[in-house]
Formats: sequence, structure tokens, C-alpha cells
Amino acid sequence: MARVIAVANQKGGVGKTTTCVNLAASLAATRRKVLLVDLDPQGNATMGSGVDKYEVEYSAYDLLVEETPAEQVIVRDTSGKYDLIAANADVTAAEIKLMEFFAREVRLRNSLEPIKDQYDFIFIDCPPSLNMLTVNAMGAADSVLVPMQCEYYALEGLTALIDTITKLAAVVNPDLVIEGILRTMYDPRNRLANDVSDQLKQHFGEKVYRTVIPRNVRLAEAPSFGAPAIYYDKSSAGAKAYLALAGEMLRRAERNEPATEEV
Ligand SMILES: Nc1ncnc2c1ncn2[C@@H]1O[C@H](COP(=O)(O)OP(=O)(O)OP(=O)(O)O)[C@@H](O)[C@H]1O
Ligand SMILES: [Mg+2]
Repeated sequence: MARVIAVANQKGGVGKTTTCVNLAASLAATRRKVLLVDLDPQGNATMGSGVDKYEVEYSAYDLLVEETPAEQVIVRDTSGKYDLIAANADVTAAEIKLMEFFAREVRLRNSLEPIKDQYDFIFIDCPPSLNMLTVNAMGAADSVLVPMQCEYYALEGLTALIDTITKLAAVVNPDLVIEGILRTMYDPRNRLANDVSDQLKQHFGEKVYRTVIPRNVRLAEAPSFGAPAIYYDKSSAGAKAYLALAGEMLRRAERNEPATEEV
């Protein structure tokens, strides 16, 4: 049965999509069956997976609003060798239409249920806001992975996010846990980044992944080639960092360590 992981942070541009695409590809490269659900109307995870968001027949909109079976909505075998549920501007309409439904918080959970046993991991790329799409992601997920940049206000934002996740969990999904906190776009020469990183480890301990994602131009370039970094430049520091993160996640899962702690 798949472990369902929502990748979320209400702050924009912290590396949610880059993490989804590259982690999905790295786990797929270790022969895990992976599904990536793009829940962001920007469709960046879709494009970064080599799937044209303007050309797709079905998107997360069909899954959430039309109740089209996931089996039909899934794009098989993308450039990252994982499966994808695409997003594009239609998903903005889904956010509004969801408000009309009863039990709107669990639409995604219910629609993924029939296909969960086909996968080892399902990642959900959330938009940079706490809207009904993100609530659906939290409702469907076993855990939340939080990518963050080690900047001045990052800890405040993180505390607010964890507070929100805890409150949401109490309402829509009591079993939700924090999967891990990932330091992204890290520059070890930056003193502030090091200070924030130390504080992060003090506050969140083992929840903070040992693996750090460096700032690396290859990670930023890869989406324009429609491929995850391991297929664009596998020797790049960015590609190696996400492969290392995949390894760390698999080892953690084997040990069944802090990832199962309550938030
Ligand atoms: N480690 C990195 N090194 C260099 N550039 C990066 C790295 N991670 C992400 N980027 C770039 O930073 C920008 C923001 O990253 P990304 O789209 O992954 O963030 P996001 O949190 O998904 O953004 P949004 O909130 O808009 O969905 C992108 O242009 C991406 O290519
Ligand atoms: Mg994104």
C-alpha cells in the first residue's frame, strides 16, 4: 500500500515542486512505483515531468470534480519514470467547485483509494496557499513533507505551518504526521542559513532530513527540458542530493523511525 506524502509549504518558491519531481524520479529509479499528483493550477510539476499541461486529456479537475476514476486520469510513465495526475488552469475551477460538495475535504482521499495499492509512494504537490486543494492533500496524505529555505523568517513560517497542519489534522485527518523537514536551496557559505539550520535542528530534531538540497542551477534548468535532474544531468549536485534524500527516506521507512510520530 502506498505511503501518501503531501509536499506543502504555504510560502511560494521554496522548492515544493522541484522536490516532488526529483524525489519521485529518484525513488522510481530505485524501482519503487511512484505516482505524483499535481494539485497546483500552475502545473509546474506536470511540465517538469515532461507532460504538456495544455495537451492533457484529464487533470486533477476531473478527479476532484467530475469523479473520473483515477485509473483514467493517470498519465503513465512520464519522463521521470513515474506516473502523474496532471494539473493546469482547470484546477483553479476545481478549488471553487469543491465548495459545493458535501465532504469536500476527502474527495482526493476517496478518489485515490482504489489505486493506492498500485504504488509504493504517492506524492502530492500542493499550491503555495492553504486553500481547499491543500486541505484535500492533507486529507488524503499519511504525512506532510515540508521543504524550506533557511532564511530569516523561515522558522516563524514553519511554526505557523505546523500549527495549521495540526489543526487541520484534528478535523480532516487525525492520523496525519510530519514526514520530514527538508532544507532546500542551501548555501553553506551563508552564515544566516547555517544559523537557521542549527535552530531548525534544535527545534525539530530528527524530523529534519540529514540530506540538504544545495542551490544548484541544474535543478532550475531541468524543468525547461521536461525532465527531472537525474535525466538531465545525473552528475549534478542537485540530482545527487535528491537521490541521497530518496535513500534517506527509504532507510527511515525501514527503521520506521520518527516519521510515524504524531504531530
Ligand atoms: N535547489 C535549487 N537550486 C536552484 N534552484 C532551485 C532549487 N530548487 C528550486 N529551484 C528553483 O526555484 C524556483 C522555485 O522552486 P519550485 O517551483 O520548486 O518551488 P515551489 O515551492 O514549488 O514554488 P510555488 O510555491 O510557486 O509552487 C524554481 O525556478 C526552481 O527551478
Ligand atoms: Mg510549486
